[in-house]
Amino acid sequence: MTWLITGGAGYIGGHVVRQLLDAGEKVAVLDDLSTGDPSRLPAEVALVKGSTLDGAAVRAAIREHGVDGVLHFAAKKQVGESVERPFLYYRENMLGLQTVLEACAAEGVRRFLFSSSASVYGMPDVDLVTERTPCAPMNPYGETKLAGEWLVRSAGRAHGINTASLRYFNVAGAGAPELADTGVFNLVPMVFECLTTGRAPQVFGADYPTPDGTCVRDYIHVSDVASAHVAAARRLAEGRPGETALTLNIGRGEGVSVREMLALIGEVTGRDTTPVIAPRRPGDPARVVASAEAIRRELGWRARYDVTDMVASAWEGWCHHHPEALGA
Ligand code: WQD
Repeated sequence: MTWLITGGAGYIGGHVVRQLLDAGEKVAVLDDLSTGDPSRLPAEVALVKGSTLDGAAVRAAIREHGVDGVLHFAAKKQVGESVERPFLYYRENMLGLQTVLEACAAEGVRRFLFSSSASVYGMPDVDLVTERTPCAPMNPYGETKLAGEWLVRSAGRAHGINTASLRYFNVAGAGAPELADTGVFNLVPMVFECLTTGRAPQVFGADYPTPDGTCVRDYIHVSDVASAHVAAARRLAEGRPGETALTLNIGRGEGVSVREMLALIGEVTGRDTTPVIAPRRPGDPARVVASAEAIRRELGWRARYDVTDMVASAWEGWCHHHPEALGA
């Protein structure tokens, strides 16, 4: 099978490219390199530099590489920015998705995997979030992921495409230092940046109704996210076209608080991670932890890595990209 990976030069897409190659699949990448980095890609991978908004370019890439399936990662992913710039998020995330789906329908591509997010759930008031927990996104980013899932499912049904929407919880870690996340938008890299620049890490709110007062999340190693995609891609490849439409959480089912994460980062890095307590960040839910039952049942997939693996590999990746961190 040959897979076209949009956003394949990005953090998660780059990991999926490597694992698909290791699994013996053929891969081509479409990326506009707005945030992606071609150095994440092995030399043998064909890179088409282009936008998902350019339907002719997507169709040409599908034809040129004999694509059987698409894994669609290309998207904007900063929650705060999405509140400031909803048009940008709907254009890139919704219109970009629609353009790629239309190209698939027109070119007879029969498998499609979509990067969704736990942000579709908003503020879930449950201990473990299942795929049946009501969706109520709280920001334009989450809206584009939920509406994107609807479009993926409808397009699959109308055009005989096997589809999967995979809802990632809090992705962290790196499968290799050069593949690490270079953005500083999430807890782990934000703490690393503080450690590198000699500032105390911040805890955004310590008065939540959780055991230690800080927010609880389900952190998942990016290599586990990637292996879930390989399992889902195989599943879509096996089924008769149009017969499969999966919506699955990718999480571990284990809640970890911000304070626990800071303590672990201190242990792994050998640095002082004593935080300052800052005000709550608007829109942060107290607890978001996945039920990982459905993906285990459907795909036989399980996470292999724990939070220590995530922090240790993320720190190695951070030091690879920020050598000054080692002397800080
Ligand atoms: C985790 C916890 C913060 C930084 C977001 C998106 C989600 C997904 C992943 C995808 C929160 C706290 C953070 C810091 C802190 N997006 N925190 N100090 O908000 O759970 O999820 O990213 O592409 O859709 O919503 O992730 O890593 O920002 O925060 O206390 O310096 O850490 O308040 O409780 P979040 P996060």
